[in-house]
Amino acid sequence: MKTYDKFLDYYEEVVRWINSPLEDEVEFLKEDCIMEYNSEAKTILEVACGTWSVAKEFIKAGYEVTGLDINENMLKKAEKNIWKQNLILWDMTNFDLWKTFDVVLCNYNSICHLLTWKEWQDFFAMAHKHLNKNGILIFDINTLFEFESITRDFAQFYTFWDDVVCLEMFKKTGYFEWLIKIFSHKSGSDFELITEVVKENSFPISKIEKELKIAWFKILEKVDYHYGQVSAESERVYFIVKKS
Ligand SMILES: C[S@@+](CC[C@H](N)C(=O)[O-])C[C@H]1O[C@@H](n2cnc3c(N)ncnc32)[C@H](O)[C@@H]1O
Repeated sequence: MKTYDKFLDYYEEVVRWINSPLEDEVEFLKEDCIMEYNSEAKTILEVACGTWSVAKEFIKAGYEVTGLDINENMLKKAEKNIWKQNLILWDMTNFDLWKTFDVVLCNYNSICHLLTWKEWQDFFAMAHKHLNKNGILIFDINTLFEFESITRDFAQFYTFWDDVVCLEMFKKTGYFEWLIKIFSHKSGSDFELITEVVKENSFPISKIEKELKIAWFKILEKVDYHYGQVSAESERVYFIVKKS
């Protein structure tokens, strides 16, 4: 069983609509990242594409999109989408498509699902290998500040139909862990409790920047997704970097 398998039915609602409206994010990615830094781009590799919600918006806008994800159930959901193009089941830390792209995109803090620094380094190497000359890599992280804050927060509750989803985060040694509880309504006052654990990790921004340079990327911009200017209290930071 892969990350998000049990949470899959609620995933798009919680992640994509409540936490981060899709239109806003796609607009940001299109206008402020791709048009700004690689306006000639035509091809996108979306790594950790999930259920294809971002990819389909890029296809509608005329881009050719290839999607890669490690979770076959996420991809099955993506396959149902009439906007689907090329979907590939593969690990983002070790893949070879024998093809290069104008943009490699890895968004919604998907990189944070890689728990070790070595995996982050491997992903940067994979992205570099799959980019055209002057191609750009766009990815975002949940910062350590954000994870630390969430661990201090109360649980978050969401209601879907007759079901309730409860999200809590705990700090473990060397990583963070979401505990997802789904109270699935059966009948009357009868609920079934389904739990799923999702592990995530993050690293200091300065460490990431240093590594990107070592991996032959030029940093074009780093942006606090909510407030623009990156600070010690940024929660979600986008990196836009160019293959050099
Ligand atoms: C938070 S979701 C983001 C999905 C999509 N990018 C979006 O914006 O809706 C994280 C995704 O990363 C995928 N993932 C986690 N580890 C991965 C890995 N090692 N290789 C490829 N995909 C991975 C999960 O299966 C999941 O679909």
